[in-house]
Amino acid sequence: MDYITLNNGLVMPQLGYGVFKVPEQDVYEAVLEALRAGYRSIDTAMIYENEAGVGRALRDSGIPRKDIFLTTKVWNKDQGYEETLTAFETSIQKLGVDYVDLYLIHWPMPDEDLYMDTWRALEHLYAEGKTKAIGVSNFHIPHLKRILEEGTIVPALNQIELHPFLSQKAIRDFCQKNGIVVEAWSPLMKGRDALTEPVITDIATRHAKTPAQVILRWHLQHDIIAIPKSVTPSRIRENLDIFDFVLSSDDMKQIDQLNRDERTGSNPDEMHKK
Ligand SMILES: NC(=O)c1ccc[n+]([C@@H]2O[C@H](COP(=O)([O-])OP(=O)(O)OC[C@H]3O[C@@H](n4cnc5c(N)ncnc54)[C@H](OP(=O)(O)O)[C@@H]3O)[C@@H](O)[C@H]2O)c1
Repeated sequence: MDYITLNNGLVMPQLGYGVFKVPEQDVYEAVLEALRAGYRSIDTAMIYENEAGVGRALRDSGIPRKDIFLTTKVWNKDQGYEETLTAFETSIQKLGVDYVDLYLIHWPMPDEDLYMDTWRALEHLYAEGKTKAIGVSNFHIPHLKRILEEGTIVPALNQIELHPFLSQKAIRDFCQKNGIVVEAWSPLMKGRDALTEPVITDIATRHAKTPAQVILRWHLQHDIIAIPKSVTPSRIRENLDIFDFVLSSDDMKQIDQLNRDERTGSNPDEMHKK
């Protein structure tokens, strides 16, 4: 495993396991499988409605809590100062933990003008030691600038949709200049076109690796944290088996050139409270 050090000194595995859309009844077995395979970072969210199953798997795995990096997120309808504090308590109760490693604002919802109040709640939770780091998700540069200007803590991380067809260069550059680590959601483009793109399949053939492994390696070599999701045991292991090869600078450039600003998810500027 490779690790990234966040701006407050906290060390985070560079490859994690995401559980979006994994139903509560399946998530227990999936997370146990991921932990058995060697993942030590799990990404969930209140809105995934599977925090209880994630928490049970963490406990039953027998792995000490301190060896697991756990992320969850405050959902849109819970934004606001008091609402966020309440939502956090609900999340840690469901997870059955007394702290999380990273707590994120799920979406900025700029039209609602709530994310600064929400951020102040995250700063409070951080000061209380209930979360070891705080960050944001789906934040564009203007939203990040406002937090940098009006907040007292620089977000440790910004989790955004990022894959070879949506390389997010401007946000990545801004984050790098400001000490904010970038984390890719849908790092495999939800298993869509990027996996069959000839540039990627050719590079995969040359390295005797799979397209998914090449894409994950591209993330890592750009200092991006990736949290691929899979409920398929063989793919859970495949996605972790990426530490025995290196993409050349030419491979990296070829993949960089695939960007076409193609989203699979919502545009953060258009996301509203729901
Ligand atoms: N902050 C946000 O707003 C936000 C939004 C979306 C996601 N996320 C986080 O990011 C995580 C990952 O994103 P995601 O789940 O949307 O997409 P993803 O990880 O890019 O792709 C997951 C899909 O790819 C398939 N897959 C996984 N490994 C594969 C492999 N080696 N070969 C072929 N197909 C493979 C999976 O299928 P199987 O499961 O059937 O194997 C699944 O259909 C989420 O689980 C969540 O934790 C955050």
